[in-house]
Amino acid sequence: MRSPRDFFKPLAIDAPEPVREIPFKPSRMIHFLDFSNEKMVAKVPEIAPQVDILLGNLEDAIPVDRKEAARAGLIRVGREMDLGETALWTRVNELASPWVLDDLTELVMEIGDKLEVVMIPKVEGPWDIHYVDRLLAQLEAKAGLERPLLIHAILETAQGVINLEEIACASARIQGMSFGPADLAASRRMKTTRVGGGHPGYRTIADPDPEDPDAPRPSYQQDPWHYSIARMVDACTSVGALPFYGPYGDIRDAEGCETQFRASFLLGCVGAWTLHPGQIAIAKKVYSPDPEEVAFARKVIEAIPDGRGVHMIDGKMQDDATWKQCQVMVKLAEMLARKDPELAQAYGFERTVEPAGATA
Ligand code: GLV
Ligand code: MG
Repeated sequence: MRSPRDFFKPLAIDAPEPVREIPFKPSRMIHFLDFSNEKMVAKVPEIAPQVDILLGNLEDAIPVDRKEAARAGLIRVGREMDLGETALWTRVNELASPWVLDDLTELVMEIGDKLEVVMIPKVEGPWDIHYVDRLLAQLEAKAGLERPLLIHAILETAQGVINLEEIACASARIQGMSFGPADLAASRRMKTTRVGGGHPGYRTIADPDPEDPDAPRPSYQQDPWHYSIARMVDACTSVGALPFYGPYGDIRDAEGCETQFRASFLLGCVGAWTLHPGQIAIAKKVYSPDPEEVAFARKVIEAIPDGRGVHMIDGKMQDDATWKQCQVMVKLAEMLARKDPELAQAYGFERTVEPAGATA
């Protein structure tokens, strides 16, 4: 048993105090880059303003002989480049790998004041988070950091799914989780080689028509990820952390990507990974609320200033609960409008929302 008072004590002498609330910033896309590639480093000034989060990937997709170069490239980006309001994250190597200790040590010591979130892959249970929690505290103390780094767990093993709730509660550092369909499919022995999305073989079919047993039967693809994504959303939001959908591997299939991203958005995810510049616009479109929905939500809030009672607006029943749904929509729209003048205009917020960074 751990005393509730201890959750907000630093885990190392002189480490910064744990955060009480997870900051909710624009988080529509976590854009993955490999900084062992000089060309990608050179593109940072162009890409950073287009994305909410830029992530230096050190894990899968980085070949073994480029692991150290990817880490060094990320340190260079952190030290030398001004990313403006765009957050800098990393995905370190998995905890069982020979690289992760140096990943965490070097990154915290060199650019711990620039990195906001460390993504930990293949998290299986709270023990993985406890290990990283203490290690980060020791490193933060050594580096003299004033603000703690946050932890983002990738949900990509069957054990991780089983232990979701305990992972979410394992540390005050838990910023959120991402859904990793490729590793999760492998871990569960699912018979798919796709990275996210549906599968033509996973479907339902209507009963035969008794009048015409040979007629074609309507059949539809189903979403193989629904159960786990929904559980991830509950586990995260119940502790004030943020759920994200992960990668969509078929880069040419923009419509499939948009459909997968939108399903996760409707379930409660705040963003997704973008693996290619072409996916940035898709994430931006999907994870920014639709202007028509925002207009309707504003109408409801204006019509019911105290959020109580039952009302009919445009033929739809509104009550205390729908008022809260509208607040979720409008608050997100306001936050994104502060960052994005085009969205501010689409939402009709030009004159009501202060520019980002403005002080009251
Ligand atoms: C992501 O890391 C995945 O395994 O899908
Ligand atoms: Mg993975």
